[in-house]
Amino acid sequence: MSENDLIIRDFVPADTDDVVDLWERCGLTRPWNDPFKDIERKKTDLNGAFWVACEAGKDVAKRNVAKIIGTVMIGYDGHRGSINYLAVSPTHQNKGLGGQIMRAAEAFLIERGCPKVSFCVRRDNHAVLSFYERLGYQPDDIIFLGKRLISDD
Ligand SMILES: CC(C)(COP(=O)(O)OP(=O)(O)OC[C@H]1O[C@@H](n2cnc3c(N)ncnc32)[C@H](O)[C@@H]1OP(=O)(O)O)[C@@H](O)C(=O)NCCC(=O)NCCS
Repeated sequence: MSENDLIIRDFVPADTDDVVDLWERCGLTRPWNDPFKDIERKKTDLNGAFWVACEAGKDVAKRNVAKIIGTVMIGYDGHRGSINYLAVSPTHQNKGLGGQIMRAAEAFLIERGCPKVSFCVRRDNHAVLSFYERLGYQPDDIIFLGKRLISDD
């Protein structure tokens, strides 16, 4: 697929079920994170973006044939940019789409003056490390601390 074959646009609520289905097929969902709640929470973020990627010619007016093949959530807290839920449909992987979405996300952050971007990769997701390495990402020498504030149960 060439760059022109992909449309990257803002998420709209009607995309919800397609997006969660894509995340499930990409192995991004976990029992302790409710993807529907994550989508609802993302709607309150005014600094970042939540994008879906579709094949050109299969979107917008023709919602019935729209096919979402990629997603990304972008955040910016004034110091760091973050990436969550980067996904490309298994049937469309290894065609350059993930790289294309990441470059668009980086451009979005640069445009807002965001100086750096960092995000988590699950320890067992070895394959994706090569993907990020090719895009110029390296592990930071930091310990990522976390604390659950609200349970999704
Ligand atoms: C990670 C993901 C978004 C990559 O999307 P993609 O469209 O397949 O990636 P691209 O085709 O743009 O690949 C870009 C480069 O990374 C390489 N690459 C992609 N996946 C790779 C893998 N699993 N192992 C090694 N290299 C990989 C490609 O060969 C390509 O290299 P090139 O530029 O030299 O050709 C996709 O594999 C995915 O959705 N995975 C499941 C969800 C996930 O793990 N998301 C990330 C959470 S942190």
